[in-house]
This record gives sequence, C-alpha cells and structure tokens, in this order.
Amino acid sequence: MSPFGFWGLPAALLALLCCPGSGEKAPEQVAVKRGEPYKVNCTSSCPHPQIRGLETTLNKVELQKHAQWTEYLVSNVSQDTVMYCHFTCSGKQMSKTISVRVFHPPEQVLLELQPARVTAGSPFTIVCSVPAVTPLEKLTLTLLHGKKPLHTQTFGSGKDDPQEATATHNATAHKEDGHHNFSCRAELDLRSLGGDIISSVSEAQALQVYAVAPETEKDLQGARSLEDPETDLGPTYMSGVSTTTAASGAPQGLSPALAEGLWQAVGLLGIFLFLM
Ligand SMILES: *[C@@H]1O[C@H](CO)[C@@H](O)[C@H](O)[C@H]1NC(C)=O
Ligand SMILES: *[C@@H]1O[C@H](CO)[C@@H](O)[C@H](O)[C@H]1NC(C)=O
Ligand SMILES: *[C@@H]1O[C@H](CO)[C@@H](O)[C@H](O)[C@H]1NC(C)=O
Ligand SMILES: *[C@@H]1O[C@H](CO)[C@@H](O)[C@H](O)[C@H]1NC(C)=O
Repeated sequence: MSPFGFWGLPAALLALLCCPGSGEKAPEQVAVKRGEPYKVNCTSSCPHPQIRGLETTLNKVELQKHAQWTEYLVSNVSQDTVMYCHFTCSGKQMSKTISVRVFHPPEQVLLELQPARVTAGSPFTIVCSVPAVTPLEKLTLTLLHGKKPLHTQTFGSGKDDPQEATATHNATAHKEDGHHNFSCRAELDLRSLGGDIISSVSEAQALQVYAVAPETEKDLQGARSLEDPETDLGPTYMSGVSTTTAASGAPQGLSPALAEGLWQAVGLLGIFLFLM
C-alpha cells in the first residue's frame, strides 16, 4: 500500500491536472536539426521562482535570465533526448518536460530515369533517392510528371541517424502532346513534432522517347543514312511522355471486368424495376 493509501493516485493526478503552476505540464515537443544548437526558453508561472535550471545531458549555456524565464542554448544535439526545465516556487519543485526529436532535412533529392531514352511503349523506371534524412516516418517522396503526381511513397520508422530513402516507380513511355519533365519532391513534415514542413525538389529530368525503335528507323532510312547513321538517327526528343503506373496498375478507362460488372448491375436493376 502506498503511503497515500487508496486516494494516492487520484490525488496525484488531480495535482497534475489542476492548478497551473502546481505541477508538471504536458511535455513540449520540439524538432531540432541534428548537430545544430538549439535555444530553450524555460518559463515559469511563478512570480518569483527561487532555484531554477535546465536539466540535460547536452552542453548548455545560459543566454538570458529574467524574473520568470531563462533562455539557454544547448549545443551538439545528435540524438533524441529529453530535457527538464525546473523551478522551485515557494518551496515547491516544478518542472516541465521538453521532448527533443532530432531531424535531418532532405537536402539532396536525386532523380534518375532508367533508361533515359526509350521507345514509345517500352517500360522505364523512375528512381528518386534522398541520401540522408531522418525521421523517415515523417518523409513523403512524390514522383512528378510535370505537376502531376505519379507515385507517392511513405516510410516506416527508422533510426535516429540520417539514412537513405528511395522511391521507385515503373512506367510505360508513350508519346503525348504535353511537354513535361519528371521530378521528385521530398517533404519532411515535422508539424507533429513542433516543427515545420521542409521540402526539397530534385532537378527536372527529360525522358527521350523514340517514336520508332532505332533499329526500325535505321532500316527505313536505309541507304540514305548508311554513311553516317548517328546523325540521321537522332531520337525524337520529347520531354512530354505519359506513364501508366505499373505499381498501381490503374488503367485509364474501364477494365473489361469492371465494365462487365457494370452491365450486370444494370441488368439486375432492370429486372428489379420490372418486378416492381
Ligand atoms: C521566453 O518566454 C517568455 C514567456 O512566454 C517571453 O515573455 C520571453 O520573451 C521569451 N524569451 C525569449 C528570448 O524568447
Ligand atoms: C558532439 O557530439 C558528437 C557525438 O555525440 C561527439 O562525438 C562530439 O565530441 C560532440 N562535440 C562537442 C563539441 O561536444
Ligand atoms: C519494376 O520493374 C522491375 C523489373 O523490370 C522489377 O524488378 C521491380 O520490382 C519493379 N518495381 C516496382 C516498384 O514495381
Ligand atoms: C526539362 O528539363 C531540362 C533539363 O533537364 C530543361 O532544359 C527543359 O527546359 C525542361 N523542360 C520543361 C518543359 O520544363
């Protein structure tokens, strides 16, 4: 039995919930860029706090001290950690928990089209990678064709340390009137951790689509280009190609199965109406 007996726990909870300044407040969540210094403002509702401080394993210096708040600078934040602002108010100890989540923004976003030159109707793969980023579960990679999102990838939770994140998408090249490049957008959403959204976009990449297979083109041009095939066999440079997604397999129109299903539904509805 605890010294407070049966009412110990409810009383302790009450002390936490009621009366501002009488107990511990909800932990504050902050996002800190890995390796960067971070300013912490410890405030107190107590008019004249006596003893006060910041408890942390990180290196800290006091920057400013006023009646109800103290500003500290903590440096070299390399891992998720917890800090405590504490005060003594009229002999009572009070503290506030600050939960620190380390992040590394997607500074570099790399996009690769494999291959970069294809025949219309052929498959190609879009690979987007961010060499170093954390926390992974807050990252979204979006593969874009022009402004149109082709594929979105999210991730499970990873380590504290920055790591590589990759999104891969298979598509089929085909000629289209649009003139759009491919790009990849990386977005790290730190809002739930007390931060902002940090986003970064890769360089635009053009896909070169041959209308006809180079071999066929060579045959067609035959005699004329035998001397210098290279110059005559330039690809049709098209930055505008549309893709169908192999990953989701979503066709443009109705699939035969779906269409059949629809007709069956229409038929059933007819029978139903007839019976009424
Ligand atoms: C710290 O917080 C207090 C209370 O919110 C505020 O008055 C003060 O300006 C803050 N100090 C700094 C340096 O931001
Ligand atoms: C910063 O943190 C790293 C890793 O924890 C450590 O190796 C390094 O000595 C620290 N630097 C300073 C200046 O404290
Ligand atoms: C893309 O296609 C390759 C083979 O061409 C396959 O190994 C890979 O798993 C596919 N990736 C996706 C995301 O469908
Ligand atoms: C596509 O990207 C290339 C560079 O890779 C650029 O020169 C070209 O202007 C871009 N085209 C469009 C339509 O944005």
